[in-house]
Amino acid sequence: MNSNLSNVEIPPIDYFNHLLDNSPNKNKKISFGHGIPKYTPNEYANINYQLLNHSNSFKYTEIRGNIELRNYLAHSLSSKLNFNVKPDKNLIITPGANSAMFKSLFLLLNKNDEVLVISPAYFNYIMAIKMIGANPIEIDSDPEAGFQLNIKSIANSITSKTKAIIINSPNNPTGALYKNNDLIELFKICDSNNVKIILDITYHDYIHANNESDYLSLFSNFKNIIITGSFSKTFGITGLRLGYIATNSKSIDDLCKIQDTISICASSLSQQFLLNLLNYEQLAIETNLNAVKSSKETLISNLKNIPQLNWIQTDGAFYAFIELKFNMDSRKFAESLINLKSVLVLPGSIFGSKWKTYIRLAYGALNSNDVDEGMNRIKSFIDETT
Ligand SMILES: Cc1ncc(COP(=O)(O)O)c(C=O)c1O
Repeated sequence: MNSNLSNVEIPPIDYFNHLLDNSPNKNKKISFGHGIPKYTPNEYANINYQLLNHSNSFKYTEIRGNIELRNYLAHSLSSKLNFNVKPDKNLIITPGANSAMFKSLFLLLNKNDEVLVISPAYFNYIMAIKMIGANPIEIDSDPEAGFQLNIKSIANSITSKTKAIIINSPNNPTGALYKNNDLIELFKICDSNNVKIILDITYHDYIHANNESDYLSLFSNFKNIIITGSFSKTFGITGLRLGYIATNSKSIDDLCKIQDTISICASSLSQQFLLNLLNYEQLAIETNLNAVKSSKETLISNLKNIPQLNWIQTDGAFYAFIELKFNMDSRKFAESLINLKSVLVLPGSIFGSKWKTYIRLAYGALNSNDVDEGMNRIKSFIDETT
């Protein structure tokens, strides 16, 4: 057995979904657990399934992925970054952004290297770093400042073992969109210490306010930067498993060795399906972003009536990382809430051991009625148990 695995958590989402499926409470199940947008392509696009019906949809693609898809992505990223991305040199399509992150970490790390991770953090980062035999160093973001970066702590945590920092903005689980000034400061620190930045832009299309939405234009080359991204949330296609890595050509050549060994390529059928959706990108984003904004309003108006919960509102993704202002461990909170009310929220502790008094609500997939109903049940659960 690979001894690194003994250190790695049990995947939490399946665990809590299973609890909800088996809840003794027979009310309609309401899940604030799923990090997925509401609308899938069958709801916003006119899909011509005949377009999938040719033999290439069933064969391997190039390791780097379908060239038409890379052309589109290169064009789209070049319009956001401050330089040109080349489809044949700087991109590799992966089976999702999680796969992109794992492969990027595998590219950079040796045993006992350190990776700085902003806490609370998407749990799969920590799991991946540990599996590879390196050490995640968790640096707290600042809850009072809406979970913004703490640049001083980051600078003070860099050692000779630090090889990379993972930055995820907009952020899962906090929804924070990092400030441009902080990112500029961070680049300088990483550059002078030769620390690579892995920038996970999975939620780039979920920015609710205009401030800082242009942060990708701060980047002027791929020297110390690896971008990992996803098509899952942009198009509502979490099950198609499509993401990508954008970085310098030498790293992409090495990433091809990793991708070839683990996956050969991303699913050809999924890539072909996505090609047929590209014309709908703006519609997909608008449809899902509007749904997110409307559920968020409903969430905010419900939170006003629950003084025992504290959310410093954030402007990205579709997550609220909410403080419990009473003495209950968040795991116990989540498990009891499922059992008594058939409502799923995730405990903050799965995003870092320090966050035991927080819960994460994913509000992207729910309509406003379900947010209302879920929040009413959370309120009555709190009133009954505290
Ligand atoms: C921050 C972040 N990165 C990556 C992913 C995984 O995305 P994908 O479906 O492309 O693997 C998620 C999924 O929730 C996420 O929250």
